[in-house]
Amino acid sequence: MNNKKITKIFIKTKAKNYNVIIGENILKNVNKYFNCNRNVLIITDKNIPQIYIDVVKNKCKNPYIYKIKQGEDSKNFFNVKKILKFLLKNNFSRKDAIIAIGGGVVGDLSAFVASIYMRGIDFFNIPTSLLAQVDSSIGGKTGIDFYNVKNVVGSFYQPTAVLIDISTLNTLTDRHINNGLVEIIKIAATCDKKLFDRIKGTKNLKRDIRSIIERAVVLKKKIVESDTLEKNTRKVLNFGHTIGHAIEESCNRKYLHGESVGIGMLYFSSKIVRDEIKKVLIKYNLPVSCKINKNKIYELLMHDKKMSSNNIDTIYVNEIGKFKIKKMQVKKIINLM
Ligand SMILES: NC(=O)c1ccc[n+]([C@@H]2O[C@H](COP(=O)([O-])OP(=O)(O)OC[C@H]3O[C@@H](n4cnc5c(N)ncnc54)[C@H](O)[C@@H]3O)[C@@H](O)[C@H]2O)c1
Repeated sequence: MNNKKITKIFIKTKAKNYNVIIGENILKNVNKYFNCNRNVLIITDKNIPQIYIDVVKNKCKNPYIYKIKQGEDSKNFFNVKKILKFLLKNNFSRKDAIIAIGGGVVGDLSAFVASIYMRGIDFFNIPTSLLAQVDSSIGGKTGIDFYNVKNVVGSFYQPTAVLIDISTLNTLTDRHINNGLVEIIKIAATCDKKLFDRIKGTKNLKRDIRSIIERAVVLKKKIVESDTLEKNTRKVLNFGHTIGHAIEESCNRKYLHGESVGIGMLYFSSKIVRDEIKKVLIKYNLPVSCKINKNKIYELLMHDKKMSSNNIDTIYVNEIGKFKIKKMQVKKIINLM
C-alpha cells in the first residue's frame, strides 16, 4: 500500500460542494485542506487520543478545544447550548469555523451546532471511527437525540470538507471497528454485491480497509448527490435503521448504533439475504438477535421521523445489491418481530 497516496472524492450537492480527502497519516496536513487561519473550535470527546487533537491544534492559528463526554448520551440539547455559549463568549464570528475530531456522536452534534450558530458557520469533519468515516461524516445529516428519540432534532448541513485519516483507526477498539463495518455491510447489501462479497470473503480486513472505505464513500456520495434531502432514494441508507434505532434506545444502549442496525437489517430481508447477512455479522462478532420489548419499540416507532399517516417507508432487500422501498404500518413492523 502506498502511504503517500491521497484520494479525493468530490461531493456535489445543491447546498454545497466539498471534498472528502482520504489518506494515511494526513492529520498533520490538515491546514492544506481546511482553512485553519482563523478562530477554530475543535470539538472532540474525552476518549479521543490527545495526540490527534494536538496535531490539528498546532496547525490552527487561533484554536480552542471543547471536549464532551464520550457516547451517545452526549448528543443532547444541554451540550448544544453549552457549545453555543462557548462560541459566543469567545467572540466567534460568521467567518470562523468548527472542526469535529471523533466518531459520529461528535460529528452529528458539532455539525448541528455549526448549522445554527449565526445561521451557519464553516464545519470541517475529521471522522476517527470507522462508522463516521464511511457514513456519518458524509451527506450533511446533523442532529441530536431528544426525549429518547434518536436524531429527532437536527438539520441538513453539508460540511466544508472532510478529512479521513485511516491511521486513526489503529487506536479504535475491535468492537467499534465491527460496529462501523455494519454501515458498510448495509450499503453493500443494498447497492453493491461485489463489495458485500469482499467483506464476506476477506481474510485480512485491516489490509483491505482503505479500499473498502473508499468504495463505501463513493457509494454514499452517489446516493447523497441524487437525493440530498432524503425524499426518495436516500432512504436506502435507512436499511435496518427503523428497528435498529428502536433497539438502540429500548435496550438502554446495550448495543451500539451499528450493532443495532445489524439486527434491524435481518427483519427486512428475504430468507436468503437474511442468512447471508447473518453469516457476515457472525464473522465480525456482531449480534444477530436481542431481547425485544415490543411495547417500547412500538412507542419509539410512533415517533420515527420517517413516519407519515401511520406508515413508515422501510427498505427491503430481496437480493444482495438491490433494494425496494416498502410502505409499512407500524403494527405490521411490530408483527415482524
Ligand atoms: N449523520 C449521519 O448521517 C449518521 C449516520 C450514521 C450514524 N450516525 C450517528 O453516529 C453515531 C455513532 O457513531 P460512532 O459509532 O462513531 O460512535 P461514537 O462517536 O460514540 O464513537 C465511538 C467510540 O469510539 C471512540 N473513538 C472514536 N474514534 C476513535 C479513535 N480513532 N481511537 C480511539 N477511540 C475512538 C469514541 O471516543 C467513542 O467512545 C450515532 O449517534 C449515530 O446516530 C449519524
